[in-house]
Amino acid sequence: MTPRRFRAKVFRIRHLTKDVRELTLELVGPPTLAFLPGQSIAVTVPDGASDSSFVRYYSLASLPSSSHHLVLLFNAGEQGKGSAFLMEHSVGEELQCSGPYGSFHLHDDPERDLLFVGTGTGIAPLWSMINSLLEQSSSQPITLLWGLRSEPDIYYLDELQQRADRHSNFAFTLTLSQPGQTWRGKKGRVTHLLQEFPQVDHLAVYVCGNRKMVAEVAGLLRHKGACPIYRERHEESS
Ligand SMILES: NC(=O)c1ccc[n+]([C@@H]2O[C@H](COP(=O)([O-])OP(=O)(O)OC[C@H]3O[C@@H](n4cnc5c(N)ncnc54)[C@H](OP(=O)(O)O)[C@@H]3O)[C@@H](O)[C@H]2O)c1
Repeated sequence: MTPRRFRAKVFRIRHLTKDVRELTLELVGPPTLAFLPGQSIAVTVPDGASDSSFVRYYSLASLPSSSHHLVLLFNAGEQGKGSAFLMEHSVGEELQCSGPYGSFHLHDDPERDLLFVGTGTGIAPLWSMINSLLEQSSSQPITLLWGLRSEPDIYYLDELQQRADRHSNFAFTLTLSQPGQTWRGKKGRVTHLLQEFPQVDHLAVYVCGNRKMVAEVAGLLRHKGACPIYRERHEESS
């Protein structure tokens, strides 16, 4: 799909945690965007100092089937220029965007179990991929391992549980690297959860989030066996 420019207005802003924002954009013109789950869009950010502009890339957390509305996640706590620019915008205000971009998308591995590994807002493209598979009633076993820091960082838990309840082929594990004393769930970094996968030859793995985590997951998997590893590669989203 060839990237193209489009205008979109802010349709909804949800504060998922103290820092994480879910931004829903409504396309103004053209009215829809064709993309593959896992792909990104670029938001044009004016550079006040130089009268020029630059772009910031955000993965789409939404589904191609609702292509009039695009959902992005960003971390308002990161203080990046992109996040700061997005935070200046209220519902109804317009953004200049382009896309879709990126080669991170679902591949055809019908004989493999699918493993998705993410940290923080790296869930965004994985969320689109997983929801797309479930929407298509895929029968492939799908597992999500998601790493967050502590209880106040948790979001999408009800949505994840709903999907796990509805789809017997979907399971997820949330792990907290810095949980409070009362946390009864999994503890530690998401990389620790890979210990529960002694064999990986039957897997196709999708990884997104903290850059070091992505590299470490790929290294751990390679050490265990041979499986396709698909990684989000775009550089900046803050
Ligand atoms: N928003 C998007 O659309 C999007 C799309 C693609 C990628 N991303 C990227 O996703 C990342 C998410 O950032 P975030 O601030 O929300 O979360 P984060 O800073 O990556 O932290 C979330 C979790 O990652 C853990 N972590 C850090 N280094 C790790 C490592 N080497 N191995 C395993 N776990 C590790 C942290 O553990 P500790 O507590 O032990 O540090 C914490 O539990 C960013 O790098 C962002 O650029 C975002």
